[in-house]
This record gives sequence, structure tokens and C-alpha cells, in this order.
Amino acid sequence: MPVIAVIGAQWGDEGKGKIVDLLAEKAHMVVRFSGGSNAGHTVVNPCGEFKMHLIPAGIFHREVTCIIGNGVVIDPAVFLEEIEALKSQDVSVDRLFVSDRAHLIMPYHLQLDALEEESRGSGAIGTTKRGIGPAYMDKVGRLGIRTGDLLERDAFLERLRLVLEQKNRILTRVYQAQPLVLEEIYEKYCHYGELLAPFIRETDLMVEEALERKQKVLLEGAQGTLLDVDFGTYPYVTSTTTMTGGACSGLGLSPLKLDGIAGVFKAYITRVGGGPMPTELLDETGELIREHAHERGATTGRPRRCGWFDAVVGRFSARVNGFSSFILTRLDILSILPSIKICTAYRHDGKTLTSPPSSVAMLARCEPLYEELPGWQTDISDIRRFEDLPGEARTYVERLEELLNCPVSIISVGERREQTIMVKELL
Ligand code: IMO
Ligand code: MG
Repeated sequence: MPVIAVIGAQWGDEGKGKIVDLLAEKAHMVVRFSGGSNAGHTVVNPCGEFKMHLIPAGIFHREVTCIIGNGVVIDPAVFLEEIEALKSQDVSVDRLFVSDRAHLIMPYHLQLDALEEESRGSGAIGTTKRGIGPAYMDKVGRLGIRTGDLLERDAFLERLRLVLEQKNRILTRVYQAQPLVLEEIYEKYCHYGELLAPFIRETDLMVEEALERKQKVLLEGAQGTLLDVDFGTYPYVTSTTTMTGGACSGLGLSPLKLDGIAGVFKAYITRVGGGPMPTELLDETGELIREHAHERGATTGRPRRCGWFDAVVGRFSARVNGFSSFILTRLDILSILPSIKICTAYRHDGKTLTSPPSSVAMLARCEPLYEELPGWQTDISDIRRFEDLPGEARTYVERLEELLNCPVSIISVGERREQTIMVKELL
């Protein structure tokens, strides 16, 4: 199967980094298609431990070409820092490329992200403050600046002048902040342009060439379906299409070219930032999971909210993405619990719901209805075959398959590559 998408199926942080690093071994190309440095993909492999924000998790395999597609927004400072960090650990970046159509995070995006959040008060989204929302607003509002623009200095200066005038009006008149200085940004970004130039390519053509050569391409999703700007818990979402469809527009790839879509689910659920989460555990079980699993944001360090697996949003996620299989991560974490709950439906105003409502006000009033399964309470991190899992763990996974209406393909039982149960080969 040459083109496989790995898509976050919950509220992000499902363990996509580990899965992509693992699957990349068999891939020729790994591509990021959406989001920006709001992503934090943790990878632990023989090269070391890494928190990837922009660079695809396929970078650790020397033969793999890594692409940051047009759908991603790039903060040049983060990109260059990440490259330095990789190089310092002897990871080569000579097969890394960035789309000439990818939009840039500019200084005013970072500033506006912080100011907008502050102005939302108690309705704050809890963004990562990486400038993501303001950058995508500019992209859609036709005020964006793209990586390719940095290579045309005169045109870039004119464009920046026009955009900055508007941004400075907002900064000074709406937020009473200091205006930004054109020349300073121009010089800084021209310098970034020089450093980025060797990476900038027409990446859509590179993807097409790989497909013509029948190479295996892995699409690395960022964020999760419940953070999708259309199908997530709006407005507590990110500003991109995090779902499968985003992979096509975020790369210039026909949907007909996709051979498989694997949704990544954590064996429980987590969320960072604001917004409803019906199965959130505000008790000692939630605390136990958070501590045992070190559930802290890879990008912001914030503690993650933890809860039981929510099969209502899970089934929804499988449906709107069209998952051909799902990948279950961190099953080993549940080993500490004597019994495990799965939310199979919600109760709302006396009615039973099996699909999440679109309104967050309604979702916040939904009471989860649980099914309780026995735990296995034994270490499973050294298990490599499905049939060797304790019966209770197999029952848990099989119940998720039924509820998600989708077969499991991979189960992760630890952070290292080899701590994986390959139920079905994906690539
Ligand atoms: P990965 O790729 C978890 C959340 C933020 C916030 C909301 C909007 O590691 O799964 P933004 O900065 O995007 O405007 O913030 O989205 N968020 C994530 N949560 N994992 C992520 O990425 C996230 N990227 C954004 O916490 O609630
Ligand atoms: Mg993350």
C-alpha cells in the first residue's frame, strides 16, 4: 500500500510521533501537511529523545525524504532550531524539503495570538501561542507571506509593507501595543530566507514523482480530529483541517491516491487547553493516569487533562475520516488500573446520544454513559503479539474495534519502536 495517512483521532497527542518514526522505516517519503509548531511529536529511538514540532518524524531514517507541505505554517526560528538540535545529535537533514507555498509565521502572528487569547478572558481557547490561528487567518484572508516569497526580496518588501501597515493598525488601535518596525522584520526574514533557501522546493511535484515511482509515502497528521476547524469542538479547536481531507489540500495530493487511513487513538483520552471533554476524570484516577503516563504537553509543558476512552467521539472520528484501521497507543498505561471504563453513549436532556452534538454548550452538558471492563494489572510492555496479551487487554481492544467499527492494525505498549504489536502491516 503506497500512500498511508496517519491521523490524530482524538484531541491530539495520541502518539503520532512514535508511530510515524516506526512506520517510516519502510517508507520512502514522510510528509507533514497541516498545523505548525503547535504540534509536539515525541520520538524516542536509538538516535535519542526528540520533541518534533515541524520536521516530520521520518527524519531519523537516512533514506527517507521528509517534506513539510504547503498546508503547514512555518515559524522559521523553530524550524532552524529544530534542525540544529537534530544535527547536534548526528541526525542528517539533507533529505528535508519545505514547500514554496507554505505560509510563514511572522512576529505579529505570535504577538496577536497572545493578545487575542488575553482578550478572550474566561473564554480563552488555551492556544499554544505559536501564532497558528493568526497565521491561518492571514492565509485565508489573503494577507499571508509564503516561504517562496522570501526568495523574491523586492516583492517581499512591498508585500510586507502592505501587510504590516494593516497589522500595526490592529496592534496599536485595538490592543494599544507598540507598532512593529518594517525594516527589522524585513532584515530578519531575509536572513531566514537565505537559511531556508536550500530547503525550499515545489514539494507537490516531489510527492507526485514519488508516487510515479511507486514509492511508499507516509502522511504524518498533526493535532487531532476533535481539534479540526470543522468537525472539532468549535471554537475550542485549532485553525486547520486536521483530518484526512487536509492531507490532500495540504500537499497537492489527489484523494484517489490514498490507500489507507490509520486513525491514532490513545487507550484513554487527553486534552490540553480549553473546551468540553465529557469523559474527563477530575478525580484521583485522572491524576494517577497523568502522573503515571507523564501527560504533559510536549510544546507547552501544560498538564494534560485525562479521561476514559470516549467511543462516542471515537466513532465519529472514524466516520468523518474514513479510517481503514486504527492504531491504539499507550495500552501499557492502563495496566495500573483494576478496571477500565469506556464511554459508549451520552445522556443529554433525557435522550441518549451516540454521536457528539456540534454545539460545545450541548457537549458540555452531556453525561457519559459507561461500560466497565476488568483491567489486567500486569506489565504488557514486553509483549509483541496480540495473542500474548492478557485476555482482559484483548477484550478491551476487541470492544474498541466493535465500538469504532474499524479494525486495529497496531498496538503500542511503550515509547520505544520495538514496544509495538503489529497486528497488520500497514506499509
Ligand atoms: P499534536 O500534533 C494537542 C490545541 C491547543 C488548543 C487548541 C488551539 O502534538 O497532537 P493552537 O495553538 O493550535 O491555536 O491551539 O489546539 N492543540 C493541540 N493539542 N496536541 C496538539 O498537537 C495540538 N495542537 C494544538 O492546546 O487547545
Ligand atoms: Mg503532541
